[in-house]
Amino acid sequence: MKVSVSPGHNINGTLILPLFEGSEAVPESHEAGLHSALKGQINRILQDGDFKAKLKSTLSIIGGEGGKAILVGLGKEDDADIHAFRKAGATVIANRKKAHGTDLTVQFSGASIEAMGAFAEGMLLRDYSYDHYKQQDEDEDKEGEIDVRITCDEGQEDSLESVINIHAGVASGVHLSRDLGNCPPNDMYPEAFADQAWEWAKEYDDVEVTIINYDQAVKAGMGGLVAVGMGSARKPCMVIFELNGKKAGRCPVLVGKGITFDTGGISLKPGANMDEMKYDMGGSATVFGTMQALAATGHKGKVVAITCMAENMPSSNAQRPGDVIKTLSGKTIEILNTDAEGRLVLSDGLWKAGEFDPEYIIDFATLTGACVVALGHEATGLWSNDDDFRTRIHEAGNAVDELAWPMPLLPAFEKEMTDSKIADTRNLGAGRWGGANTAAAFLKQFVPNRNYEKDGEQITWAHMDIAGTYWGAKTNSMVGNGATGIHVRTIYHLITNG
Ligand code: BES
Ligand code: ZN
Ligand code: ZN
Repeated sequence: MKVSVSPGHNINGTLILPLFEGSEAVPESHEAGLHSALKGQINRILQDGDFKAKLKSTLSIIGGEGGKAILVGLGKEDDADIHAFRKAGATVIANRKKAHGTDLTVQFSGASIEAMGAFAEGMLLRDYSYDHYKQQDEDEDKEGEIDVRITCDEGQEDSLESVINIHAGVASGVHLSRDLGNCPPNDMYPEAFADQAWEWAKEYDDVEVTIINYDQAVKAGMGGLVAVGMGSARKPCMVIFELNGKKAGRCPVLVGKGITFDTGGISLKPGANMDEMKYDMGGSATVFGTMQALAATGHKGKVVAITCMAENMPSSNAQRPGDVIKTLSGKTIEILNTDAEGRLVLSDGLWKAGEFDPEYIIDFATLTGACVVALGHEATGLWSNDDDFRTRIHEAGNAVDELAWPMPLLPAFEKEMTDSKIADTRNLGAGRWGGANTAAAFLKQFVPNRNYEKDGEQITWAHMDIAGTYWGAKTNSMVGNGATGIHVRTIYHLITNG
């Protein structure tokens, strides 16, 4: 999608007209460029009460002599915050028909720069489909890129354009996260992810990607990553992304769970919906997408991301329930269920993060079915060893309408995960209750102290369980189906707005 901004009222292609609930006529400010027949048609529709302008509603006008239009509801004017504008923009793209064509002109009436920007953001985010694997029908005309023009008042164009450019850069990160998540697992395996990261780094001067391959991971003692990935012919790896890596000082370090397919391993999952486990690399897709959002918008600060990539397969080389493994941290883990594998790869990723002198560490993982039981598809589970930091992430999520809900990190859960008879930790809770919390408590055991000092202070850390929000979120209006690309925008907001 191309979005341009200009003053003036001429309409190219289809008019997009955002309206508040209760509008009874086309706003006067729009009358200039509007064909009188289209104006009459719209006024008639509004006067007859045939379009109420409820949020996320649209009405399409095609075939009249005055041109084509899509009316889009913003809901009640008093409630119309930037989230409403973003949703309305996304709704236009979701409901646009081929007959509307690809040239769209949006006309606002007295909206703020922020609100117009949010509307464009919604359009950009929703303009996504994953059809790389579909053959193009020969007699079907291929639609070109959507060309959106936003008309604004004289003097607003520069600031609106720069807001929209940032939204476009961030949306490219969201779309990258979705592309990675939607890619079928026969093509998205650990090395394929690493190759894509390697190629991506060539696009930017201030980005560096380092790949720790299987042999190096074994040598380094990354026992969690190795144990999960060794059952697959497609070997595991760790991919490290550095943006502005040469800059001095502390920086955010993001860590992602990247299971390119989770069969459960020897503790095999049931067959129903197992295909969905291709999304089990959603945590790594989130951090790769966030790095793209930051690089594309020219972020000047230093940021590091670590992705822990493995395929969890049953085989004669696979780990077994009963195994005890030694992780990068030196801590040992008794494996009681090979399907609780995300926490194993993350144990090495979190520990590795300590090498980058993090300001804070945030991990992203499609970690537990229990989190989906707790929060459904409406919110990500959010845990932290620092209450203020947890609040900051929660607020960053609210600011961009990606909910991350505070969950408890309790000593009792930590005790449950550290009472193995033969190892330092166990990868399964004692019972099935509180499974998302015991998983978070497990991860905390692998968050290093600053400079790895034995009695030092633990680095500020948060864990985000995106098992319910990375895909299957039907109420997420920014996406049609498949991977959502959630939290690229949250973390972009957190990093760039403090
Ligand atoms: N990848 C799954 C978690 C998952 C399940 C995400 C369903 C999204 C939807 C994870 O590796 C897993 O299998 N977790 C187990 C942990 C259990 C064995 C302690 C689970 O949630 O059942
Ligand atoms: Zn699993
Ligand atoms: Zn998993």
